[in-house]
Amino acid sequence: MPTAVVVLAAGQGTRMNSDLPKVLHSLAGAPLVAHAMRAADAIERERLVVVTGHGGVDVEAAVAEIDDTVLFARQEDQRGTAHAVRAAEAALEGFSGDVIVLYGDTPLIRPETLEAMLAARADGADVVVLGFQAADPTGYGRLVLDLDGSLIAIVEERDATPAEREISLCNSGVIAADCATLFELLGAVRNDNAKGEFYLTDVVSLARGRGLKAAVIACEEAETLGVNSRADLAAAEAAFQARARAEALETGITLSDPGSVWFSLDTVIGRDVEIGPSVVFGPGVTVESGAVIRAFCHLEGCHVSRGATVGPFARLRPGAELAEDTHIGNFVEIKNAVVDAGAKVNHLSYIGDAHVGAATNIGAGTITCNYDGVFKHHTEIGPRVFVGSNTALVAPVTVGADAMIGAGSIVTSDVPSGALAVARARQANKPGLGARLMERLRAAKAAKRAGEAS
Ligand code: UD1
Ligand code: CA
Repeated sequence: MPTAVVVLAAGQGTRMNSDLPKVLHSLAGAPLVAHAMRAADAIERERLVVVTGHGGVDVEAAVAEIDDTVLFARQEDQRGTAHAVRAAEAALEGFSGDVIVLYGDTPLIRPETLEAMLAARADGADVVVLGFQAADPTGYGRLVLDLDGSLIAIVEERDATPAEREISLCNSGVIAADCATLFELLGAVRNDNAKGEFYLTDVVSLARGRGLKAAVIACEEAETLGVNSRADLAAAEAAFQARARAEALETGITLSDPGSVWFSLDTVIGRDVEIGPSVVFGPGVTVESGAVIRAFCHLEGCHVSRGATVGPFARLRPGAELAEDTHIGNFVEIKNAVVDAGAKVNHLSYIGDAHVGAATNIGAGTITCNYDGVFKHHTEIGPRVFVGSNTALVAPVTVGADAMIGAGSIVTSDVPSGALAVARARQANKPGLGARLMERLRAAKAAKRAGEAS
């Protein structure tokens, strides 16, 4: 059955106390809304509609940047969750199949859970609601069940009777139904309730009234965690990281200190990768099987190939591409640079806007001077080059294959293949001068002391 997903993201998020729309706050290196989008993609949705309102222009721009196939629906004023879903009707024109409604501020729903809801739909439930046993049900809609376990109604807390408030099975907000049925039911939702809003939750009792069947699929409360405040955001981050660490261990990644390793939503790491303590994976990182990331590394927008070793204390910035068996050592920063197979940058270097050829060795303290204050320039270093320690490569500059550069050089012009370049002041030795100079200094010090004592 084709599936469409509608993500509700029009709310203001007042309790975030922020100028940024709530769904654009970052969780695991991605905007909150990206998490719901990813769950939608995991179930192979046919269409994805994001309903925007508060900060709509910014939210739409951010979403489109992640995925330009997403359709948008504007809900100009927020008159309730049913009203929000109805805003998506035009974007779903011509679609037939199941619709799942997600919230943009509820990032931890697992694709498996959505699959279970779709399976319940396929099993004959017309409306499927995702519920959970709440440790503290305050504020949630309560799920009222029939004796046979089918769902009779969802009652919002403000509209609930004292007996209904005793119910701990709560509404997560996620709902699945056939598209045509859903919009037919939504058309009948009224706003005669405590908040004067159009409640999506009313589709359950409306469905029952038409002789349709509603069912509940239950999930862990942790999955339904919704972000309303910065404290919720921190809690969601912790939950995301805990899950990512457990998944990493399960898929064959070694984490020597799992609690100190941080992943992003899109981090991809192969089997048998070893990751030391206190490593941070920012957005856009892929690491191939068998690579080693030592302690205290920060990676972002980069690729690490099989057999490469990174760190300790290395920083890989966007555009860093490490080929197989490369070695990137301590206090090395790589940005927008391709490092070919077997090359080594082992100590205290900055390699930016550069290409380092295969099996080249970059000596300690080497810097590519890539920025002239206005423009960035490229440094090209061929294969099997030996760059002496503390070399400054002033870009744009090219170093040919098999060249050598003497330590301490400031390289401002190209080095031909196979050449030795030495670009520093020539050393001058003055015979005996060192010893004589030292003698004179000591004598001066002694004379000064004698003067002070008398
Ligand atoms: C909703 C549910 C409640 C459930 C709870 C779970 C309804 C009526 N109630 O309550 O049963 O237990 O979520 O967290 O559905 N939104 C819009 N446009 C609107 C209104 C809301 O886009 O006009 C979006 C919000 O941005 C948010 C989501 O829908 O992402 C939920 O809205 P919210 O007002 O937080 O619903 P609750 O009162 O928490
Ligand atoms: Ca809410």
